[in-house]
Amino acid sequence: MSDQATLEKIFPQSLDAIRTEFAGAPDHVPKDRIVDLNIAMGSSHANDLVDPYEPFGWLSGPEIPRLLFNPPPQNGMGSAAGASPSGNWVVPHYEDIDRVYSDNDHFSNKGTAEFQALIGETFRSIPLAIDPPEHSKYRMFLVPFFSPARITRDLEPRIRKIVTEMIDAIADKGEVDMAWDFGRVFPVRIFMGLMGFPDEKFEDFLEWEWDILHSGSLEKMQGALRNVLEYLRSFIAEKEKNPDEHLTSSIVHGKIEGRPLTEEEKIGTVWFLWLGGLDTVAATISQMYRRMALQPEIQTMIRENPALINGAVEEFLRTQPILSSGRRATRDFEWHGVQVKAGDGFSCLNPAGNFDASRFKDPRTFDPTRKANRHFTFVGGVHICLGAHLARRELRLLLDEWFKRIPEFRVKPGTSSTVYPGLLSIRNLHLQWDVK
Ligand code: HEM
Repeated sequence: MSDQATLEKIFPQSLDAIRTEFAGAPDHVPKDRIVDLNIAMGSSHANDLVDPYEPFGWLSGPEIPRLLFNPPPQNGMGSAAGASPSGNWVVPHYEDIDRVYSDNDHFSNKGTAEFQALIGETFRSIPLAIDPPEHSKYRMFLVPFFSPARITRDLEPRIRKIVTEMIDAIADKGEVDMAWDFGRVFPVRIFMGLMGFPDEKFEDFLEWEWDILHSGSLEKMQGALRNVLEYLRSFIAEKEKNPDEHLTSSIVHGKIEGRPLTEEEKIGTVWFLWLGGLDTVAATISQMYRRMALQPEIQTMIRENPALINGAVEEFLRTQPILSSGRRATRDFEWHGVQVKAGDGFSCLNPAGNFDASRFKDPRTFDPTRKANRHFTFVGGVHICLGAHLARRELRLLLDEWFKRIPEFRVKPGTSSTVYPGLLSIRNLHLQWDVK
């Protein structure tokens, strides 16, 4: 573990310490709001705290201005993920984040997570990058496939089988790289079954996904994007000819408002599902196991009372907000005394909002009995994660089967427990337990 002085140097705890100058900021942004918050965006600063989001909790304190402004990340990768090259407003307080996610008149999703633009593709990511009222027709089309009842009927048996097999394969070994060999693999296997992709694409999917989200290299991102889109288009064409009972086929042969989907809508939908459901679950699993390894009383709590699993999953989600979602202002307006202009970028700082003491009692305490746990890890409003029920089910079944088979575990001595508090998360997490 790093000592406190080192951590405070990396993660300053006052606005004065992170104030910065940025000549590229638009003229209407007050200079005293410009601060360097890239430390909290999860793509550059790792730490090894038990609660890796702890250094950002102060940003939702009552003394912090309601709107801050962050220059773009130095590495230039932010724009690929939707950050504006002229910087973004940052929203750290619960109440304001709630407004940004819910107020679609002032805040738009256009262009969000449209990595495909990096290779000149113009189709939209459906449904994420679509604003209401158009959004609802896509959402209504997709919702039935992700409903809790459908997951129980069609997916739960397969999820349980896969997770049981994966745990049985490691139980007697007494160790696993939970991030690389488990968290990264498990959601991809579930997703392949959901969509109907053939098992032999498994390694390619893992590699493409890694290159797009984690390589940090524009060239690798573009190569992977070309590969994945070429493959998804060929798979869609195959399903046109040979329908089956899986989700890709249902999309390809589905109807929205009584008409078939266009080619752009088909690829936009299949592509965004591919992007949305893999790394998010992987990052969540890795951070959840890291937290349990470093705080074994959470293991004891769940082992002694498995009825707490649902509440524990919700608390892992709240305390691990892996994404800070972006929006763009649709018009000029004044908010909390500052002028916002149409086109301004906004980042909602979920690692602050999920710990806002005005909303959550004892926000840093991991409490699986917490009531009304309305966090932002799946955002809120109309774009609330479509895969949230599926993700929760994957995590619950994993914990359910894990605690039946694996005794108390720890981080393997001599290995790293470093984490990027965000989607970049953890590359390797070596866990160890005693084998009887
Ligand atoms: C723990 C795992 C997951 C997390 C943390 C997560 C997080 C999110 C977030 C933050 C958003 C909203 C982004 C925004 O509005 O800017 C979102 C939307 C979405 N997610 Fe997830 N996600 C997870 C799992 C999944 C899974 C498993 C799937 C599907 C297989 C999925 C599919 C989607 C889709 C389709 C949307 C767009 C919804 C819309 O725009 O109406 N997600 N997710």
